[in-house]
Order: sequence, then structure tokens, then C-alpha cells
Amino acid sequence: MATQTTIPPPILSTTSPADIASTCETFALSREEFDNLQRSAKEAKSHSYSPYSKFRVGNLIITGANVENASYPVTTCAERTALCKAVTTVHPNSISWASKTLKFKAIAVATDISPPASPCGMCRQAIREFCSVEIPIIMFDGENGYAVLRLKELLPLSFGPEALGKEDLGRRGDS
Ligand code: THU
Repeated sequence: MATQTTIPPPILSTTSPADIASTCETFALSREEFDNLQRSAKEAKSHSYSPYSKFRVGNLIITGANVENASYPVTTCAERTALCKAVTTVHPNSISWASKTLKFKAIAVATDISPPASPCGMCRQAIREFCSVEIPIIMFDGENGYAVLRLKELLPLSFGPEALGKEDLGRRGDS
């Protein structure tokens, strides 16, 4: 039987100016945007409601954190908490269904583990609904490490709005 091999992304350092400069250049982020993403994603973990797993997850700049439930499957991950908050809140970075002008630029997720956690499958699909497949997903660990991949790398051959004739939604965020 064929074995599936996946190459983990390199772990970069938040204390390395060269790593951060390279990330910013690749993903068209300013240093200030990167720093804000890092600070906010890590801070968002403190809002986590995770008495069961104790696994705190935060993400940004519309912040979210995981909200657990005694009936585990009812839990909502940090990523989907943040997305739903963005989509349902009048916010400069949230989706404006009327004007379709607003775009998500990057997604950051922070956890306490190393190597850093990546969004679960359900969250990857949820991100796919609202973001370009090119969007960078920055994964911060509990120390000074981070990894960054585009959505298309985390969710190849993905199914999105354009498959249902919603081209304008599927390409949202592409420039
Ligand atoms: N969790 C997230 O918030 N995001 C993910 O992408 C993976 C998992 C949360 C859900 C649950 O509260 C805890 O982490 C353990 O699964």
C-alpha cells in the first residue's frame, strides 16, 4: 500500500528578523501587520473556553478562540469563531455582502504547542468559503516559532463557492 508522506512546513522564528522579513515579503504583509497578527492571535488564546481539552487556540485580528461544549462535537474552533464573528459583524475587515469589497488578508492561529497546530479540516473548509486559496495562514506556537502556508497548500483540490456557480464568492480575496 502506498504511504502518504507530507513534508511539514519549516518552523520559523518570531525572534528572527530575517524570518519575519521573508514572511512579510512573500505574503505582502507589513512588519506592523505581522506583529499585530502575532500579538492578537496569542492574546486571543486567553479568551479560550476550553475546560475539557485545555487546548487554547486564538486567532485574529477579528479575534476568536475555541468554545468547547460538554458534548464535544458541539465545540466551535477558534478559526470558525473568528470567521463567524467577522461575517456577522460590521467590521472593516469583514465581508460586506452588499459591496463585496472587503477581503481577508491573512489568518493567524496561535496555540501552546510546538510544532504549531494547523487549522482542522472543518476550519480549512470554512476559511475556503470566505478567503482566497492564496491567503497565508500563519501558525504560531507557544514559544517563538511559527509556520506559514497558503490555504491552497493546507486544502489542495478544494471545493468552493465557484463549484456552485458563485464565481464572485470563490475568487474573493484574489488580487
Ligand atoms: N481547536 C481549534 O480551536 N482549532 C482547530 O483548528 C483545531 C482544534 C480546538 C477545539 C478544541 O477546543 C481543542 O482545540 C481540542 O481539539
